[in-house]
Amino acid sequence: MSASPALKTSVLSPSAVRVVPTQAALGAEVRCDDVRTLSDAELALVHRAALDHLVILIRGQTLTDPELIDFGRHFGALDLAPYAKTGKEKARKHPEIVIVSNVMEDGQAIGVLRDAEVVWHSDNSYREQPLSFSALYSLEVPPAGGNTGFANMYLALETLPHELRSRIEGRTLKHDMTYNSAGDLREGFKPVSDVRDAPGPHHPIIRTHPDTGYDALYLGRRPNAYIDGLPVDESEALLEALWAHAVRPDFTWHHVWQAGDILMWDNRCVMHHRDPFDAGARRVMHRIQCAGDKPAKSAAGKIGHPRALSAPNS
Ligand code: SIN
Repeated sequence: MSASPALKTSVLSPSAVRVVPTQAALGAEVRCDDVRTLSDAELALVHRAALDHLVILIRGQTLTDPELIDFGRHFGALDLAPYAKTGKEKARKHPEIVIVSNVMEDGQAIGVLRDAEVVWHSDNSYREQPLSFSALYSLEVPPAGGNTGFANMYLALETLPHELRSRIEGRTLKHDMTYNSAGDLREGFKPVSDVRDAPGPHHPIIRTHPDTGYDALYLGRRPNAYIDGLPVDESEALLEALWAHAVRPDFTWHHVWQAGDILMWDNRCVMHHRDPFDAGARRVMHRIQCAGDKPAKSAAGKIGHPRALSAPNS
């Protein structure tokens, strides 16, 4: 990964933490030693890098589950992601961890999301208080596929054609709880045939990031979404137009995994997607997630996040 000409590599402290932005619209590699040895001041720099670059990658780590949990706590109170888990996972020793894996043991999946494509989404948008940060720590990666892509939602909002923006100003979107992002029906939910009946919270389509103060487009996930108050066909047409814009390739960055990577992203301004992979290969990731706020739009919300201004083609 090389530094973007617009966002130069920053040496943030005399310590071992260096932030190297990607050349894409978001993302940075944080180069540091073993995260278990970082001081509070260094961890604060890592947190700052996540807010500035939206997604951060830290390579070459070797962590136990309790160590991963300790690392995650520096970014906020950890959430137990109750709806993300399968039956087997609920009984695990570390409820802070969600296993994302296609591996089967004794005829049962050890985790969620299988080997399927995971559609673009923002984690847990179907809850009243969705997550702030999520992080995946990779234990086993397939030889090909299973890459995780990210899209910059500050940039998506800032480049939205005026006509589209005027149609979503002040509007809310209903975020469906029924299916997970691999298309699996969640435990305890029934399929819905009319998007207006889908269970889920209503969030503003434009939200203000509570820590950075910048506005971002907040779409959650496409299946069963509904823009409140519109006839269904109008909501569908507007959502199609918004989604076609939001995940334009030039708004994205895609990560190719190595074992020992930590990848952390900010769900308040980023959506992510995972490519499918060969069912015969093993992929094992341990995920931690931080609790977030109820999404809100502030009248003082800013535009011009530095990572949107410096994006290629912006
Ligand atoms: C997720 O959506 O949390 C999983 C993404 C991945 O498996 O890369």
